[in-house]
Amino acid sequence: MTEFSEQYPRALTAADAIRALHPTKPTLGIILGSGLGNFAAHVENPTTISYADIPGWPLSTVAGHSGKLVLGTIADVQVAVMQGRVHAYEGYGMNEVVFPTRALALLGCTGLIVTNAAGGINRNYGQGGLVCITDHINLTGTNAALGPNEPKFAITPEAGQRFFDMSSAYSYRLRKIARVEAAAQEIPLPEGVYLAVLGPSYETPAEIRAFRTLGADLVGMSTVHEVIVARHMGLEVLGLSLVTNMAAGVMDQPINHEEVMEMGKRAEAQFTSLVKALIPQVAAAITTS
Ligand code: HPA
Repeated sequence: MTEFSEQYPRALTAADAIRALHPTKPTLGIILGSGLGNFAAHVENPTTISYADIPGWPLSTVAGHSGKLVLGTIADVQVAVMQGRVHAYEGYGMNEVVFPTRALALLGCTGLIVTNAAGGINRNYGQGGLVCITDHINLTGTNAALGPNEPKFAITPEAGQRFFDMSSAYSYRLRKIARVEAAAQEIPLPEGVYLAVLGPSYETPAEIRAFRTLGADLVGMSTVHEVIVARHMGLEVLGLSLVTNMAAGVMDQPINHEEVMEMGKRAEAQFTSLVKALIPQVAAAITTS
């Protein structure tokens, strides 16, 4: 059963192939969500690798996810930026969904900035605004760490456990860095809990009411799986959502993917300015842990 075969050798092959094209070790991985892919243009001296050219790397089928890994520097920090990701709703198994996150860790990343487009459940959020993720609720019905435990993925002595802690999955100190930087730039950055569904259908208004009762502020179809394996391996995580639309039933209008993509473009300037400024600060934090 491939679903539960060992992932380490496959991820190692991918990491070796990437290293052959870009020998410098990245310290920070960045996953760009729907509509946010243009951020990769800010990588200096980039090595751009199509996902199709990396052995084992799953290919995205969604409009707005271009499918490139861009390695280079931003503010003198070695970064590995994923322009696009695959989702479980495309039919990919968990091993595929988190394969890139595993490979980034094997390349040397000790921190991960994970971003996404999300629906706003919290009525205080504005469409087009950014939110710093404090925690998540995984309602996708599956878990990215399914299958045999693979301790070899651990990047710290404590990581790689069969049962691992998720009580501070979204690093408090990285959230604090984000809060302070956003305030300095006068960019509103409320915090919130991200709830993940499988998709691809958007939610019903009844589901959104239920999710609000459960304590969710945002809803989306990604991120939690990547964060779960990142924590399994011992990476420190910062999560940022772009509220591309208010969730179903919050406003009296339907939700569509074009709107999600359009909002990414409109929020680009704020997103870019915030994340560019965060990169050196996050890198300094994770290398002095
Ligand atoms: N629901 C789920 N995923 C999303 C949404 C939404 O409203 N907007 C962007 N991604």
